[in-house]
Formats: sequence, structure tokens, C-alpha cells
Amino acid sequence: MKVMVIQGPNLNMLGIREQQIYGPMKLEDIHKQMKAFADANGMEIEFFQSNFEGEIIDKIQECLGDADGIIINAGAYTHTSIAIRDAIAAVQLPTIEVHLSNVYRREEFRQKSMLAPVCAGVITGFGPFSYHLAMVAMHQIFQEITAIKAQQQQKPQS
Ligand code: DQA
Repeated sequence: MKVMVIQGPNLNMLGIREQQIYGPMKLEDIHKQMKAFADANGMEIEFFQSNFEGEIIDKIQECLGDADGIIINAGAYTHTSIAIRDAIAAVQLPTIEVHLSNVYRREEFRQKSMLAPVCAGVITGFGPFSYHLAMVAMHQIFQEITAIKAQQQQKPQS
């Protein structure tokens, strides 16, 4: 099963931007760790980063028929984008919202997520390890989906 990892605005600046908040690790190194987890657990994985809201929405829509789940750090769009929320709701794929920083310890405007109500869950505050935790959660979700499908196939046709 395939997970699509979507990274929003300014996450391409990791390792440079506000290191006291986001740490020294670059996005490509986070992705390397996620790929290693995916390989070790038989998951397919693809990565996408954009600073543009519309491109993020296009990518979420493209997940229909291409991916089985989404891990998204929408950056600042988390707090503002009803359009990204609607795209997540539209594709109905299990989606995990991720943040490096603990958004609940920061400014008030970061404490509201437009996306959380349409996500399976939210992981926030563990630095790059947030992405690892999201991979563990997505792996669990994939196992549950596989088990449900297997059960459905066993049921006799009525
Ligand atoms: C962030 C938190 C957001 O509030 C912020 O705008 C980001 C990064 C995080 O990963 O901690 O760009 O999503």
C-alpha cells in the first residue's frame, strides 16, 4: 500500500529556517528516514513539497486511485486553508496531520487547525520524529484496512 507525503510551504527551508524551533535536519534527510521505514515495512512511499496552496490541493486530488493514505504537514496553511481541508474530505483517504513543533505551545493562531477535523489523527511536537510516528500510525491503518478487506473477501456471496 502506498502513502503520499505532502509537505507545505517553507518546509523546503528545514535546516535553515528557525533552527531553534524546527531543528537542524533537512527535509531530504527526514524523507530518507521515512523511505527506510517504508522499505522495511513493505510500504510504497512518494514525497511532494510545494509552497502553493493550489498545487497541494491538486496533489491531494491526484491521490485518488494512486495512494492509500496521506501524511501531510501543510505548514501555515494548516491554520488557514479551508480549501485543503475540503480536498482531504473529498478524497476520503486516511490522512495524518504532522507538525515538527508543538503548535499548542506556540502563538494562539497556530492552535487552530482547519485540517484536524477531517484527519485520522494529529502528531505534533516531536521534531523530525513526528514523521516517524506518523509512519508507524499509517502502517497500523494499512494493516487494519488489509484485514478488513480480507474479511470481506471471505464472506460468502448472498
Ligand atoms: C509547522 C507549524 C506551523 O504553524 C508552521 O507554519 C510551519 C511548520 C510545524 O511543522 O511545526 O510552517 O507545520
